[in-house]
Amino acid sequence: MTTPPSRAPSPSPAPRSPAPAPADRTWAAHYDALAGVELPPGPYTQVSEWERRSLYLLGRDRYRGFGDVVELGSGGGGSTLALAQGLAENPRFDRTRDRLHAYDFFRVGRGTFASPKFFSDGEPGADGSFLADFRDHLADYLDLLEIHAGDLEQTSASAGDAPVELLHVDVAKTERVFRLVAGRFLPRLVPGSTVLHQDFASPRLPWLHHSTGALLPWIDVVGPPVRSTLAFVVREPIPADVLAGIARQEAGLDEQLALIADVQGLLGADWTGGIPFRDVLELSKAFAALHAGDPERAWRLAEPLQNVPYLAERRADHFDQLRRALAEPATRRS
Ligand SMILES: C[S@@+](CC[C@H](N)C(=O)[O-])C[C@H]1O[C@@H](n2cnc3c(N)ncnc32)[C@H](O)[C@@H]1O
Repeated sequence: MTTPPSRAPSPSPAPRSPAPAPADRTWAAHYDALAGVELPPGPYTQVSEWERRSLYLLGRDRYRGFGDVVELGSGGGGSTLALAQGLAENPRFDRTRDRLHAYDFFRVGRGTFASPKFFSDGEPGADGSFLADFRDHLADYLDLLEIHAGDLEQTSASAGDAPVELLHVDVAKTERVFRLVAGRFLPRLVPGSTVLHQDFASPRLPWLHHSTGALLPWIDVVGPPVRSTLAFVVREPIPADVLAGIARQEAGLDEQLALIADVQGLLGADWTGGIPFRDVLELSKAFAALHAGDPERAWRLAEPLQNVPYLAERRADHFDQLRRALAEPATRRS
């Protein structure tokens, strides 16, 4: 279901021309500004306070007005609110024309990856929907929002091909959904578009890492991730066949591992110093092998990483999963 914005103006069909980013709004300035941002408390969110600040600054300072703002995986609205607050303060964001598109199931249930904490009172209603709670949290910004409630497979089917300037991806928890994101949203990126992968610190989602590797000839990683979120900017038009290959997940395992290694070479710790991304991406390689049906290789990749304190402490369940997969008889794996 697509809920039309509560205020009537329909988006202008006129092409929008990119305005240059102001000189003081470099990525260095973005990182420098993070410490000084103070946001009022928002609803329960699964993004960190640093990511909230970064989303706010992206909306306020970096949005130039040449394309849509799209958030995939809005949950209870914590990340959406930060983005909306920033956009509302950005003179280049025209509230009568520009839209922040928010996609989510907006309900809890099997396979949704949505948390009961998205309900304001922590209790799901009979239909499991937290859309009313989301709307309450975003009450001051409903006019600039376009809410797309339901499975991304349906809600993005007719999303069109207008350029996306800012894409916040917090939805690609499964390969199926990542393929939707890659097939329907990455082709809408143009030079200057910014992509944020909120789950970049999740080793279980290797498609985020090897797809970023596949895009490296056409993108620039802007700097260290802010907590879990990696940002990149499109430098040159991305060839359609490259995007189609990513959407079909065509790369074989060896290629995936090489692509992840290419990204690893660009990263150290996240901006706060808390997340060792090279180690996280090394563990991601093990999950790429697991997804490719090779638990032995997965364990060979993962085993030495048990000595990395961050992974041993924060990702112990990942090692358990890989050990269990190894122990499973081959007949049950297929
Ligand atoms: C990690 S949560 C989002 C957290 C949110 N950004 C925040 O600030 O707390 C991931 C969201 O993705 C949504 N989601 C997962 N798969 C989806 C799908 N196929 N279609 C629509 N939404 C989906 C879930 O409903 C969930 O709310």
